[in-house]
Amino acid sequence: MPTIEQARAWYDQADPIHDFDHVLRVLHTAERLALAEGADLEIVRAAALLHDAVGAAPGAGTGASNGALDETAGERSGGRAHHHHHSAGFARSVLEQEGWPDARIQAVLHCIRAHRFRDTSEPPATLEARVLFDADKLDVLGAIGAARTIAYAALDGKPAYAEPSEHFLQTGEVEPGEAHSAYHEYLFKLRRVKDRLFTPSGRRLAESRHQYLEDFFTQLAAEVRGER
Ligand SMILES: [Fe+2]
Ligand SMILES: [Fe+2]
Repeated sequence: MPTIEQARAWYDQADPIHDFDHVLRVLHTAERLALAEGADLEIVRAAALLHDAVGAAPGAGTGASNGALDETAGERSGGRAHHHHHSAGFARSVLEQEGWPDARIQAVLHCIRAHRFRDTSEPPATLEARVLFDADKLDVLGAIGAARTIAYAALDGKPAYAEPSEHFLQTGEVEPGEAHSAYHEYLFKLRRVKDRLFTPSGRRLAESRHQYLEDFFTQLAAEVRGER
């Protein structure tokens, strides 16, 4: 099993939003869900430590770096879109070096390949993959989720709030000149996350975090519009 210190080194090129703290939060949430759901803790821990190891930061290539949010700018930059596959390849080499049996390596790799919200081509089919998926998505909800989404937007030169166009509200696509603000990200993705979770304990945890996020962005929009 890779140690926390080993894992920290894989994420040394992280930007301020996609830092190792995300990986640690995912690890701790995943352990909590794994215990509640009866998942294999060793598979879940290895998958959590390795899930964003390569190419997850916005604009990243395939060098070691990390990340978490599945945001639009990273998507546009092209690097993030395959980070689950790059990270799975890296995980294979790490676990092979550690002498893990092939079946258990495959179990970890499936968790990593299936964790990406925007890629549904390999849905989480095992309890361990569902635990990792839920733990990773819980980190875009609640106060942490609000802070990370706004920080990400700022890093990308986008505002916390911009009035969404009718076109965006209907299609999820911005019009020419329309900024994909943090509020857009909330409308487009974050408010739907809780309904995508798999495990009962993950869904329970998501309820209060979802409510917090909804209250936060509702308040933000009302303040900007001068309504509160
Ligand atoms: Fe992540
Ligand atoms: Fe990821």
